[in-house]
Amino acid sequence: MDVIIAKNYEDMSRYTAKMIADFVRSKPNCVLGLATGSTPIGTYRELARMHREEGLDFSQVKTFNLDEYLGVGMERNKPYDLDQSYARFMYEELFRHINVQKRYTRVPNGLTTDPDHYCQWYEDEIKKAGGIDLQLLGIGGDGHWAFNEPGSSFSSRTRIEELTEQTLDDNYESFYKKAGISRKDMPHYAITMGIGTILEARNIIMMANGSKKANVIARSIEEPPTTQITASALQLHTGGVTIVLDEPAASLLKNTDRYQYLP
Ligand code: PGA
Repeated sequence: MDVIIAKNYEDMSRYTAKMIADFVRSKPNCVLGLATGSTPIGTYRELARMHREEGLDFSQVKTFNLDEYLGVGMERNKPYDLDQSYARFMYEELFRHINVQKRYTRVPNGLTTDPDHYCQWYEDEIKKAGGIDLQLLGIGGDGHWAFNEPGSSFSSRTRIEELTEQTLDDNYESFYKKAGISRKDMPHYAITMGIGTILEARNIIMMANGSKKANVIARSIEEPPTTQITASALQLHTGGVTIVLDEPAASLLKNTDRYQYLP
């Protein structure tokens, strides 16, 4: 496991984007696992810049997103500001700025009428694509990966998960409040890849920034893995794991001599 500590959000984002770009250049038809939330926005902006200015080519890349709110999707007739779907987020923050092919991008369909069947189909699609080469992840305030809330099994697969009060609060503050949607009206369930699904990705990059994440980061990296902090499953991963943090998110780590501090 490599732990990289950047001075600030911008440096964390640039470092992560460069890792992803190097990966895409070395395997132009790779399968990327993508995340939503406030954490990866800077990384996506930098990838968009690299596409624009350096010709970083995504034309053969396939993508799978981690999760989507249940009951939510990119609905054509929905007022733009009210669409808080992760499908919309990915389109706005990344897909429309790069040359990825729409048919190669998958975000779980929150509007599915048969969620159980759909979740199995999503798993099968990942397998058909050859599995995920590089999965990007944030970490929730309650230590979750994707929407695998505390108590999710490390062998869990893509499924419906009920969101915790903390996740609802966090996502309300970051996204729904700005859109003028009341907390009680935001979705309380989501489709999420499972921890077992995520652990099958050949490489993992997890990012975190800000002092609010310092506690869950320290517990994920330096304490025994526990399903109460589902991101701690990173310790069970057998491939390449890189954790990219800013200094505030890294502030409670103790084994600092084992980590790489960026200049
Ligand atoms: P955030 O969410 O990037 O908005 O902090 C991270 C997550 O919930 O995984």
